[in-house]
Amino acid sequence: MLKFSYYGHSAFLLDDGSSRLLFDPFLTFNPAATLSADKAEADYILVSHGHQDHLGDAGSIARMSDATVIGVPEIIDACGKVKGHGMNIGGTAKFPFGKVFMTPAMHSAGVPGAIACGFVVTIGGKTVYYSGDTSLFSDMALISRKFRIDYAVLPIGDNYTMGIEDAAIAAEILQAEHVIPVHYNTWPVVQQDAELFKMRVEMDGFIKCHILKPGEAMELE
Ligand code: NI
Ligand code: MN
Repeated sequence: MLKFSYYGHSAFLLDDGSSRLLFDPFLTFNPAATLSADKAEADYILVSHGHQDHLGDAGSIARMSDATVIGVPEIIDACGKVKGHGMNIGGTAKFPFGKVFMTPAMHSAGVPGAIACGFVVTIGGKTVYYSGDTSLFSDMALISRKFRIDYAVLPIGDNYTMGIEDAAIAAEILQAEHVIPVHYNTWPVVQQDAELFKMRVEMDGFIKCHILKPGEAMELE
């Protein structure tokens, strides 16, 4: 059993019942956040890049929960004094819950010397790809060659990342069974109609789209 909880913007939690993986915990200054940073609990915190809307409260939550931060070394350094597991693009690491593969992302890093990334996480019998902030890029085809992706968590907000059309193409290239849109409606500049994305993605009948409001959770089937 694997539970996905959405906290707004690109902050979400994967929980297999024994490990809690918190992704891009931007909570304190997130107008859409449904969880306050001092209530967040995690065993691992995965940070895709150093922009504040992703790095967010990673450092303070890691210290409070004694969680391990997973990211490129420069991002772990940016968290201050924390337990870290440094990785880089193309590498896989094993953890008690499963595996993490670090993917490229086409985006600026937010921290000097760092690079933006995404993650393919194998946990609870599922393979979940979180692209982080990125444009559409053709090497997503290599990710789908390496993994059978059950769930793809993709930004649809446009302006800083893929918009609806490119994220729909990404879902197709990834051959994801399910897709969950994130990184939209936090501010006017990333305003999007997620229902439009759902319609576009489900058009051919292969991919199922799940729209979660901040604060909502679902079981990943
Ligand atoms: Ni960013
Ligand atoms: Mn962002």
